[in-house]
Amino acid sequence: LSEETEQMLSAYEWLTKLYHHLIKYQKDGKDGLEYLKSRGITKETLEEFQVGYAPNKRDFTAKFLMQKGYSKPMLLKSGILAGNDNNEVIDRFRGRIIFPIRNALGRTVGFGGRSLTDDSGPKYLNSSEGELFQKSKLLYNFDMAKRHIRKENEAILMEGYMDVISAYQAGIKNVVATMGTALTETQAKLLNRYVDTVIICYDGDSAGIEARYKASLLLRSIGCDVRIANLDANEDPDSYIQQHGGEAFRERVIRTSDSYMSFFMRYQRRHFNLQVESERIEYIERVLKELSMIESALEREYYIQELHKEFDLSVETLMSQLAQYDKRVP
Ligand code: GTP
Ligand code: MN
Ligand code: MN
Ligand code: MN
Ligand code: MN
Repeated sequence: LSEETEQMLSAYEWLTKLYHHLIKYQKDGKDGLEYLKSRGITKETLEEFQVGYAPNKRDFTAKFLMQKGYSKPMLLKSGILAGNDNNEVIDRFRGRIIFPIRNALGRTVGFGGRSLTDDSGPKYLNSSEGELFQKSKLLYNFDMAKRHIRKENEAILMEGYMDVISAYQAGIKNVVATMGTALTETQAKLLNRYVDTVIICYDGDSAGIEARYKASLLLRSIGCDVRIANLDANEDPDSYIQQHGGEAFRERVIRTSDSYMSFFMRYQRRHFNLQVESERIEYIERVLKELSMIESALEREYYIQELHKEFDLSVETLMSQLAQYDKRVP
């Protein structure tokens, strides 16, 4: 690691402790504590995730770190400080909840900072991308989740910090998050080293639904089994757990998650109007094509039966169409 990267690591370590201390004990952290309380997060959970609060003061962090001898260029480059038009440096994370982001070894390599309001400026800010912080290679909470992931031979993949924290607080600990961006191959392979099955549990909005599809394709392409959880359009794992509790989440979301084919059928239905005959046929063809990629005879039979029941087509016809697609697979 370069000298500068070492400096960043130790700066993140200091700041994690400082911000966490403030939120737990100090007047300067009170706004942050109130906010997290209002979102149902306990002090114990704050501790486990080392969540903190950066006070809403322009030079609080700058002063603290400069006193400790850290260089201004490094602090600017990491995104801990930001320059303004008057050539002054200001705390970029000021007035934000700080989620320390750790690598697989448990070292803090960056921050996610959430604004206390939903309507002013970006909701989240991250540390700058660099040698140390590469969002596409990290999974939030992987370091704490990995032993649970291994034990359960299952990983639950979510979108955000709060989703993971709420799930963990509710006792569901094999959870990690991509931090909003599309799942990458590096992240998928990291999971696949530990488990056979990944349960995708993204937000219920349409961005979340599209992301489920892409993540499933990627995970399957590297030989990982997937299941896909369903949430209502206005829900995410955090809101569901806060409203219905961890037990309901386990039983009614995780346990009832779809197999890949069920998800695929549900997903494709969004793109076809099944009231229109031609689209109905296209839909059936699309599903059969996908089914031809599935090797399990049992699964094939099962979904053929589903199509048979729904569209009143004979099993023989569906099977012979499926056989045609089979031939085309190299
Ligand atoms: P809450 O509103 O606090 O519950 O956050 P959320 O996690 O539900 O937010 P959302 O579903 O919009 O986004 C999921 C994840 O994407 C977040 O946890 C962040 O990691 C990331 N994200 C969301 N918005 C932003 C943003 O404005 N900037 C950056 N850098 N990341 C974001
Ligand atoms: Mn979202
Ligand atoms: Mn969300
Ligand atoms: Mn949320
Ligand atoms: Mn609900």
